[in-house]
Amino acid sequence: MPDTLTPDTLTKVAYQTFQQGKQVFGFAHKMLSTRILNTVSPKERNEPNPLTPEMIKSIQPRIDALLQADWQDAEDGVYPKWALFENRWDDFFRYYPELCLDLPGIWERANGKRYQEFSAGIETAGYPDYYVQNFHHQTDGYFSDTSANLYDLQVEVLFNGTADPMRRRILAPLKQHLNAMQPTVSVTPQPLKVLDIACGTGNSLKLINQSMPKAALYGVDLSPAYLRKANENLSGVKGIPAQLVQANGEALPFVDEFFEATTSTFLFHELPAEARQNVINEAARVTKPGGIFVICDSVQKIDTPELEPMMENFPAIFHEPYYQHYISDDLVARLETAGFTEVRTFNHFMSKYWVALKPAA
Ligand SMILES: C[S@@+](CC[C@H](N)C(=O)[O-])C[C@H]1O[C@@H](n2cnc3c(N)ncnc32)[C@H](O)[C@@H]1O
Repeated sequence: MPDTLTPDTLTKVAYQTFQQGKQVFGFAHKMLSTRILNTVSPKERNEPNPLTPEMIKSIQPRIDALLQADWQDAEDGVYPKWALFENRWDDFFRYYPELCLDLPGIWERANGKRYQEFSAGIETAGYPDYYVQNFHHQTDGYFSDTSANLYDLQVEVLFNGTADPMRRRILAPLKQHLNAMQPTVSVTPQPLKVLDIACGTGNSLKLINQSMPKAALYGVDLSPAYLRKANENLSGVKGIPAQLVQANGEALPFVDEFFEATTSTFLFHELPAEARQNVINEAARVTKPGGIFVICDSVQKIDTPELEPMMENFPAIFHEPYYQHYISDDLVARLETAGFTEVRTFNHFMSKYWVALKPAA
């Protein structure tokens, strides 16, 4: 506890407490559900690397460093402090019981290694084969409203409440770059345009709006259900309403050099190698010369060898068919192949970031 209590230190303590609450909740949920699973279905689980106490201990400092960076960026004005406390409580109370009731179905599919099983009436024709999967053993994959309603809560529990702090790490480089691009005098002020590729339920777009309320937001995703949820989540944003389009990130429906910035959070580990390159090529095509592309995704082997056992467990426990290739893939080379330069990378907790520039014309 700090020596002097100013309103600012109180806000920081409140933020830390809020995040600790999420951590406790995430751990408790996972512990309880694992116990229930082992009671109702006692058998060897497919976890190749049991985590040692040392590995588990090494996690907390990484979470603490992430939360410190999150607080610091708010202090530095990258986004307002109130944004740190945003939580969709209505969704939590509405969908948490459903998330729990969904678990037996998930366990059954996982046990039966049924990776492409969807509810009756779900249309999967026309989507890329790699996409027609129950990623994370999720009921209906990305194909239903139920899945879209549960997704954020599932991620929140999986990462113990750190998903938004990880996503927010794209904001400082993005804002800094866009501020530098913004013309000081403009006859007809045009908003800066930011495209989020695979926007899912709209989380990153919402965070970008909190940081840069004047930016015009665009989002694409393959899932109509997730776009509907994104529309709901973004309905309250101040400024220009977000434009959401159903599209494959491999073939973006925008003209060349349209956006000052493109972003993508937690997409690349769910793509096969060729699709990864195609999406990066498309990001390069639609980004203006002098613009920026910021990616956030999972850590890779090269950055955190000490987390390798966890990375190996991830695709074994959750259904993540492209993760194993992703963790050794060289995205810097892919970005450079597409024409980006000055690629910078950094890590926070379980995530990795690539900040790439499109050279000015
Ligand atoms: C793990 S979720 C991440 C969603 C969101 N960006 C976030 O931060 O929560 C992956 C998202 O990528 C979308 N997706 C997967 N492949 C895609 C593709 N080729 N084109 C567009 N969206 C895709 C899925 O529909 C899903 O919404």
